[in-house]
Amino acid sequence: MKRDLLLILLGLMIVVFNVKAQNWSDQEIEAKIDEIIPKLTLREKVDLCHAQSKFSTAGVERLGIPELWMADGPHGVRAEISWDSWNYAGWTNDSITAFPALTCLAATFNEKLAYQFGKALGEEARYRKKDVILGPGVNIYRTPLNGRNFEYMGEDPHLASKLCVPYIHGVQENGVAACIKHYVLNNQELWRDHINVEVSDRALYEIYLPAFKAAVQEGGAWSLMGAYNQFRGQYCCHNEILLNDILKDDWGFDGAVITDWGGAHDTKESALYGLDIEMGTGTNGLTFSESNAYQNYFLAAPFYEMLKNGDIPESVVDDKARRILRLMFRTNMAKTRPLGSINTKAHQGVARRVAQEGIVLLKNEGGFFPIDPEKKITIAVIGENATRQMTKGGGSSELKPQFEISPLEGIKERFKNATIIHSMGYASGDPAYGRVLPPPYDLDSLKQAALKVAAKADIVLFFGGLNKNHHQDCEGGDRLQYGLDFGQEELIQEIARVNNNLGVVLVSGNAVATPWLDNTKALIQGWYLGSMAGHAMADIISGDVNPSGKLPFTFPVKLEDNGAHYYGEISYPGDSINQEYLEDILVGYRWHDTRDIAPQFAFGYGLSYTNFIISHITTNGDSFEKEDKLQVSFRVNNEGDTDGAEVVQLYIGKENSSVPRAQKELKGYQKVVVKAGKSTIGSIEINIKDLSYYDENIDDWNLEKGAYTLYIGNSSNHISIKKQFNVR
Ligand code: BGC
Repeated sequence: MKRDLLLILLGLMIVVFNVKAQNWSDQEIEAKIDEIIPKLTLREKVDLCHAQSKFSTAGVERLGIPELWMADGPHGVRAEISWDSWNYAGWTNDSITAFPALTCLAATFNEKLAYQFGKALGEEARYRKKDVILGPGVNIYRTPLNGRNFEYMGEDPHLASKLCVPYIHGVQENGVAACIKHYVLNNQELWRDHINVEVSDRALYEIYLPAFKAAVQEGGAWSLMGAYNQFRGQYCCHNEILLNDILKDDWGFDGAVITDWGGAHDTKESALYGLDIEMGTGTNGLTFSESNAYQNYFLAAPFYEMLKNGDIPESVVDDKARRILRLMFRTNMAKTRPLGSINTKAHQGVARRVAQEGIVLLKNEGGFFPIDPEKKITIAVIGENATRQMTKGGGSSELKPQFEISPLEGIKERFKNATIIHSMGYASGDPAYGRVLPPPYDLDSLKQAALKVAAKADIVLFFGGLNKNHHQDCEGGDRLQYGLDFGQEELIQEIARVNNNLGVVLVSGNAVATPWLDNTKALIQGWYLGSMAGHAMADIISGDVNPSGKLPFTFPVKLEDNGAHYYGEISYPGDSINQEYLEDILVGYRWHDTRDIAPQFAFGYGLSYTNFIISHITTNGDSFEKEDKLQVSFRVNNEGDTDGAEVVQLYIGKENSSVPRAQKELKGYQKVVVKAGKSTIGSIEINIKDLSYYDENIDDWNLEKGAYTLYIGNSSNHISIKKQFNVR
């Protein structure tokens, strides 16, 4: 009897703990929307389509439809902003985990980590009661001057596509919508609010659209943000080709299109050309704001008037209401959503792992890194970026983390046996940036102090780079130069003269000129790493973690070596009205490879503390048809005495093509973990039809027949083997 009772209890427990409440099915959602729309007044439908505050839209209280709340994005949940101004609201319960910037995530080449990033971010968004997180950003890295590259996933459409999909899945599992942005061609900040981009269909489809398409079709993104700029003479936030034809018709996007803040410019165009929700800062363009101006938005009172007069058919607002309600049934009207959590050890763990795997070791002469933490040595840590909080600044992606471990703190904690001396060396205290050095300090006194410290140290670590101030990796402006500012270039050279045992850590989201490289023993690309920055840096510097990050974009030697800059001003930055992407499909490494211009550091490049050999490359055949898959398998040997991970990259090229082609393009990759002295077998599979080019004559993808070449290597300019195959 007792036993039966126990069994029943056990059964009940299994039922209780296993029943995961099911959410609305697609059919249920559509049926519910069918019921709701006729109940809405015209005014209520219109009011769903525009902001009621800086980051929310109104619900319909009498029908129990809640407000929709959004937040930036994309590296953590931004602090609360006031209802009707850009001032922070000053809450005390809105500090969060700052995850590394998306360039760092891209450098991990690790889709599992991208999923964990998205999941943890989604959990924090839920806890903060957000329905839409404004990210990820997948604009393609076209020039190292773009102020917002740090928020994006690099220069390669395949890599950005692969990583944004699991990020979106992770976020949306929480009942929080990802908002993929900025669709599309917002590849510079200068004149972003109006510049008209002219680009060929081929470059559009092959380079700039794929990550958005993957986000929609594979990621199932529930919302998308239009870009500020224009494409072919029409603003991207209400663009017939981009939003109606491509996004909604061709790709079947069923979610809501949200403007970038202030990105709408016309009521009729917004109504007819694909916009669903207008957000903004004012009614008169990007920055002017009348208090509580939301009723004057293009998709507010003027939209209502045009609908009422019959200038715009009611079916237009019905479609927008349907999309917005669909977004709500997936988020704030879901049957059930997880509660979310914030600042957990698990989230901090994700932030640290992404940072560890994203840090890229670019140079390591004589085994400079790792530095043994047991040694009783003196380490001079020089540079403003050793202590500067990098979650601050940058624009809308700025974060208010519960804590941020600086590189100096991380190093001090890990290197307890060493004597650590810090000296600022330089400061971004330029009055032009609103920062002034207090007298008696100036750049020269800081330099002299640093040189003294450097001269008596065993090892010097210089932490410099950019800093998320205006013109230094920040929204609203591009960088003004490719080299480092604030006297850093000279400072590095002078430090090297007093102590050549020097390693440099670049904290930036962009490539920079490295004319001082020969005078340094080692170089690390350190990104903006979020809450756990200093710990992750120390993990790599100490060798607790073996670096495995790879560059998601090329470092050209000089700016003119970059394809966007080769064609002069009309290509970048444009003539202030128009801009032509004259490098066309040859973005990033595609340009360097095809034009034979050696980069300083190539796309896909990154060193390890061990040495890998890729060998035994075999394919599942040498002749394929369109529907076939090409499988490549290989062996990776770890020749050293440290465990590590290597990113094996598969590029494909087509010689003798009927159209211009890049020498090769990334089509697949695999990150393989290999124990010291051991080997691992890996494999990459690609669809033959993904080798098609976009044929402007037929407005469709076209798979050329004939000979192709596959390249396997561990960076775009380090290829272990080339092999020919045929497409018939
Ligand atoms: C940015 C967006 C951001 C929005 C809201 C805009 O200025 O371009 O990326 O999501 O502001 O803060």
